[in-house]
Amino acid sequence: MAPKMARTSVHELLRHSDRSPRGRRWRAFHLFALGAGLLAVALSSIETLPASVELLLEGVIVLVAAIFLAEYVTRLWTAPESPRFAGMTEGMARLRWAVSLDGLIGVLAVVPAFAITTGTVHANSDYAAVFCVLWILKLGQHAPAMTTLARVISNERATLASVLIIFIMVLVTAATVTHLLERAVQPAQFGSIPQALWWAVVTLTTTGYGDVVPQTIGGKMVGSVVMVSGILVLALMTGILATGFAEEERRREYLRVWDQVTKVPMFTELGTVTLSEIVSKLRVRHYPPRIVVVRRDEPGDSMFFISEGEVEVRVPQGPIRLGQGGFFGEMALLDRLPRSATIVTSQPTTLLVLYASDFYEIASHIPSLVEAVEREARRRRAENEGGLAKVTPK
Ligand code: CMP
Repeated sequence: MAPKMARTSVHELLRHSDRSPRGRRWRAFHLFALGAGLLAVALSSIETLPASVELLLEGVIVLVAAIFLAEYVTRLWTAPESPRFAGMTEGMARLRWAVSLDGLIGVLAVVPAFAITTGTVHANSDYAAVFCVLWILKLGQHAPAMTTLARVISNERATLASVLIIFIMVLVTAATVTHLLERAVQPAQFGSIPQALWWAVVTLTTTGYGDVVPQTIGGKMVGSVVMVSGILVLALMTGILATGFAEEERRREYLRVWDQVTKVPMFTELGTVTLSEIVSKLRVRHYPPRIVVVRRDEPGDSMFFISEGEVEVRVPQGPIRLGQGGFFGEMALLDRLPRSATIVTSQPTTLLVLYASDFYEIASHIPSLVEAVEREARRRRAENEGGLAKVTPK
């Protein structure tokens, strides 16, 4: 059982979404090793380096690759813990991970060291540089947005393909027409359609090197149309990707909130339809310990539900602790007054934020929730007034 628990904990640690201090330290170390490795590769391409520096750089490259090898073996070992491979045998899970993009990048990252240590390739050579630049692929692990980008491209593939087809249509038409119009004047540049395509690509992408320029009136007119079309096509692409990103982020946030909402009893008591309505209005925020979430006397535009962790409410009668399932920040919304207390996280805390405008909208749809919040606010107000009377003797 113990090795299984260790494997689960190591798998959690290696997950790039792990927010624990251990996880952060591991990611910082991994990023540092990657940076050192890439720097060593870049420097080793300088031909005039003294032999001692070359040896040092070679050492760094081998050391970094050794770290990546250890990482690869560990990831292979923990692969059965991944929910992606749930229900598979351990061997099959490992095999599936080994042939996944992550697994292949992992192998590519350790190949350079083997090549260098076995003497197949010398560190100060083009091959070593090519091998080691494969490490740049590992940087992708530190960019969660890469997965989002892949999802966006996959979701929007039909629209993107349509724009790409328009792009190709304009490109080929422009190249063909300019070839017909310009070939007599500039045979070297527009003598064939493939030659004219270079000009069309440079113009349609609005790059405009200026190395090939149409000289006939007809050619210039086609050029103008191609330039304007280029701007339109790029704007379309940007619009599609930006909307796709926003949509994907909204979907992910919805799932993140849904995950957290189930930890707040106040919400789980609501029916599924009502719950899904409120989920779309909440935002998840993670806070480390000792962070001021709300400051006394500042204006308040949101309230918070605690889905994980604990906060300390600093009121005159002494600090009050609120844990999982609790809420705060409601008084400023109900009374439209500045914050009545400062609130600080006492441990890593996850909060669900509800903005004022959404709170008022929910008030009309889910009266039971708002009544419960109002009831608690009344109790807190009374408690604070009583407490204040005690701490300020007449
Ligand atoms: P608000 O005034 O918006 O910001 C500070 C918050 O502290 C307040 O809303 C309440 O949610 C919370 N708060 C104030 N007094 C108490 C109390 N006595 N017990 C628990 N929470 C409190």
